[in-house]
Amino acid sequence: MAEHITELTAYYNARASEYEEIYHRQDPEQQAELARIAKQLDKLFLRLDIIDVACGTGYWTNMVAPDASHVTGIDLSEEMLSVARNGTRNHNVEYRLADAYDLGRWPAKFDGALVNFWLSHVPKSKLTDFLSGLHSKLSRNSIVFMADNVYVPGLGGELLEEEGREDTFNLRTLRNGTTHKVIKNYYDRHSLKVLFEPRSKDLDVWEGRFYWTIKYAVP
Ligand SMILES: C[S@@+](CC[C@H](N)C(=O)[O-])C[C@H]1O[C@@H](n2cnc3c(N)ncnc32)[C@H](O)[C@@H]1O
Repeated sequence: MAEHITELTAYYNARASEYEEIYHRQDPEQQAELARIAKQLDKLFLRLDIIDVACGTGYWTNMVAPDASHVTGIDLSEEMLSVARNGTRNHNVEYRLADAYDLGRWPAKFDGALVNFWLSHVPKSKLTDFLSGLHSKLSRNSIVFMADNVYVPGLGGELLEEEGREDTFNLRTLRNGTTHKVIKNYYDRHSLKVLFEPRSKDLDVWEGRFYWTIKYAVP
């Protein structure tokens, strides 16, 4: 397994119990943008069989499950999945330990995908492979929704840019005092269009101050 995967998974294993604090920050503008994302997801996956890639603690999984016919949440962190399983509120959700870079091996096909706060952790060199693997598991016209962070100086830890590397990183300290270097690539409206326009239909991109979202259909 590549180095970034084990490092990232170790980080999320350590962060699992405090992860959802990011969704409860006392900033009205941030809360308004999160509410906007929740509204975009409302009925988006109505009666669809969907995959939630890198589902984490199931924060968004729980939001889409009441509408969907079935949700398969996959993640590579046992600890994040354990929080997710304990917080399951719907009978149509299953959580599996699986690698987002190995979706091609997944036996089933889906007709929708939720991919929240994952794209920023994908190394630039693996973007094409990740998106091809994802699309290979989705039937034509499947809906894909992604959300992630816009770069805001001072939020998400110190940004590290290393000479000669196309990926950027954040230095993050957890409550137990451990510090982790986490891959975090930021996108804006323009870079999202450049990445997704050639491999999507009906692309819709939104960029707020804290978050961006995209929605598209698989060609
Ligand atoms: C920022 S969290 C996003 C969680 C959730 N989707 C959300 O929006 O709250 C990133 C997630 O990616 C998971 N992850 C890391 N490497 C992975 C991999 N190779 N395959 C699947 N999930 C992975 C981590 O364990 C973590 O739960």
